[in-house]
Amino acid sequence: MELYLDTANLEEIREIAAWGVLSGVTTNPTLVAKEFAARGERITPEGLAQHLKAICELAQGPVSAEVTALEASAMVEEGRRLAALHPNIVVKLPTTEEGLKACKRLAAEGIKVNMTLIFSANQALLAARAGAAYVSPFLGRVDDISWDGGELLREIVEMIQIQDLPVKVIAASIRHPRHVTEAALLGADIATMPYAVFKQLLKHPLTETGLKRFMEDWEKVKP
Ligand code: E4P
Repeated sequence: MELYLDTANLEEIREIAAWGVLSGVTTNPTLVAKEFAARGERITPEGLAQHLKAICELAQGPVSAEVTALEASAMVEEGRRLAALHPNIVVKLPTTEEGLKACKRLAAEGIKVNMTLIFSANQALLAARAGAAYVSPFLGRVDDISWDGGELLREIVEMIQIQDLPVKVIAASIRHPRHVTEAALLGADIATMPYAVFKQLLKHPLTETGLKRFMEDWEKVKP
């Protein structure tokens, strides 16, 4: 399973990319807006293009950039503009009627699409039939309403295998490290997670105390 960062923050991407384990990045309008707001800037087409290109340079892998249009033709136009920014851009579309129409058209042009906001196996099936390269079920948001995000992911992965659909599953809306393990065990192709969860994946108190002990013992008799 590949590991993606779910962020639009350049420092976070730079840091995790340096670990050598980052395969891609996903963004969404909320994450992009947060970055511009933190800099006290309004989003302009030029500013957005520059920011997405910078993410692509750091990520060195697929970068999902989401459209904000809600009508199919406008989504296609926006998707084409996003895809033209960098070869690694994947156009992210919401799983709606308009999103499906736009997905079909963009996929026919050879543009990779990530269908987002997926909360049922049938939505994933529709997205795959529309030619999506990726589907993104939101585990955490399902768990948030006391349903089972893991069960949603299990159904989607199994359905894609049985139906032999050419689409990758991105386990999204990851809230904690257990979600990552669960996604890997259930056969997700990718897990996309916030920076904080990425950091948590590595942390273990026994690793820290173990290393401390090794260093203390070494100090006692080192040359
Ligand atoms: C997926 O690509 C989304 O950006 C993301 O995982 C949403 O997660 P959230 O529920 O933490 O906002």
